[in-house]
Amino acid sequence: MDFSIKACDWSKGAANGFLNGKADVMVVGVFEAQTLTGAALELDLATKGLITRVVKAGDMNGKAGTTLFLHEITGIGASRILLVGLGKQDVFSQKAYGEAARAAWRAILGTKIAQVTFTLAQLPVLERTGDWAVRAAILALRELTYKFTQMKSKPENGARALKKIVFSIDPTEEKAAKLAAKQGAALANGMDLTRDLGNLPPNVCTPTYLGQTAKKLGRDWKLKVEVLGQKQIEALGMGSFLAVAKGSVEPPAFIVMHYQGAGSGKNAGAPVVLVGKGITFDSGGISIKPGEAMDEMKYDMCGAASVFGTLRAVAEMGLKLNVVGIVPTCENMPAGNALKPGDIITAMNGTTIEVLNTDAEGRLILCDALTYAERFKPAAVVDIATLTGACIIALGHHNSGLFSKDDALAGELLDASREAVDPAWRLPLDDEYQDQLKSNFADLANIGGRPAGSVTAACFLSRFAQNYPWAHLDIAGTAWKSGAAKGATGRPVPLLAQFLIDRAGQ
Ligand code: BES
Ligand code: MN
Ligand code: ZN
Repeated sequence: MDFSIKACDWSKGAANGFLNGKADVMVVGVFEAQTLTGAALELDLATKGLITRVVKAGDMNGKAGTTLFLHEITGIGASRILLVGLGKQDVFSQKAYGEAARAAWRAILGTKIAQVTFTLAQLPVLERTGDWAVRAAILALRELTYKFTQMKSKPENGARALKKIVFSIDPTEEKAAKLAAKQGAALANGMDLTRDLGNLPPNVCTPTYLGQTAKKLGRDWKLKVEVLGQKQIEALGMGSFLAVAKGSVEPPAFIVMHYQGAGSGKNAGAPVVLVGKGITFDSGGISIKPGEAMDEMKYDMCGAASVFGTLRAVAEMGLKLNVVGIVPTCENMPAGNALKPGDIITAMNGTTIEVLNTDAEGRLILCDALTYAERFKPAAVVDIATLTGACIIALGHHNSGLFSKDDALAGELLDASREAVDPAWRLPLDDEYQDQLKSNFADLANIGGRPAGSVTAACFLSRFAQNYPWAHLDIAGTAWKSGAAKGATGRPVPLLAQFLIDRAGQ
């Protein structure tokens, strides 16, 4: 699908050229109990009062979420008009805008329409700009059209009819909207990659497969990619990561990807490092999980998938900053040679860890990746992990959990999450919680008991992230959906990409 921007000032009667543009449909909003304004008014004039008559007849009352196709239109370039109810104008929020956009796309996707002129992004959305609205509309459409069909034996349905979408935008916002359209498509492409990797079954999406995917991403987007295998991981002394990996017949991989948008010279900026948890299947290991919904533990690599997706988006956007993506990836399986409760292992930085529960494996692979990250002298490190069931208990499925001792970094991530409508909520990381990780026999235990399980998991990671600004995102509740709509969400790619857009000042 191709997205483009066309400037149009509806208030100046300068809309004629715009109205003559060829399209299969022109999408126009109608507010509840309101006289027509902007695009709707101009269209009404051009069609000799058609919209007024339809509204008067009661066929479109402007109620949020309603849509109505008008056919065989004359007087304008488009052959149809799609009226979209917007609700009340004085409370037209980003949420109401999102609902209207989704309603419009749903109506259009149910037809054979190929070319759309979309005027809703030009409406005044409370606290949001036109470029934001363009991007939100693109993401809403791409969300609705995403389907995971790779594993079906027969291809589903034919090609999609919808091909070309032109957004009308106020001339003052044209430049920003053009950038937003480009970024929106890049973001959606990144999210699709993240969703595909998450949705793939664990017998396909293995650590080796993730390594191959990284190589391909590197070829397609000019990233420098290293995939380290068992021997190299051993040589690095990643005793904690390898302890988790050893119970599986699938070999582990340690993936490092470099995006160099700010160059690679001596004076190039310090990189932002993203570290993603890549457990391609989490059975719990010897501390095995109950059987119910265990299939969903294929999603335990969604942190890794979000690193892939964010790097793809960043590369397509061409952001002017350096980003390193690090993905430790393995399976967590029970076996005769698997890690056991009671085992004491030694992490890459020398810390000894008493493993009291083999199902708390995410922190065991991430801690060595966090130590490895030091070599890049990072400007900031953000790790992303489906780390704790406790995070779902605390925050449910709307907010990702955000942990950081660095108020400035936490603030940046929260701002990005609001801008991208990919919400996160900050949870505490006070030193008091560290006591729960005391071990009688080693430096550290890998679990801190039931109270504040997400906090103690973050506390564990913090021990390995002392030498740079660091934040941790627990995406256990937000990376995928269960039930009838089971599937990866692509989160938190929007948050991460926005954070990097802001850092790059673009
Ligand atoms: N991958 C899980 C966390 C998880 C569970 C995410 C369910 C989403 C849904 C993680 O490895 C895990 O098993 N954590 C344990 C930690 C506990 C043993 C301290 C948990 O949350 O139960
Ligand atoms: Mn686990
Ligand atoms: Zn896990």
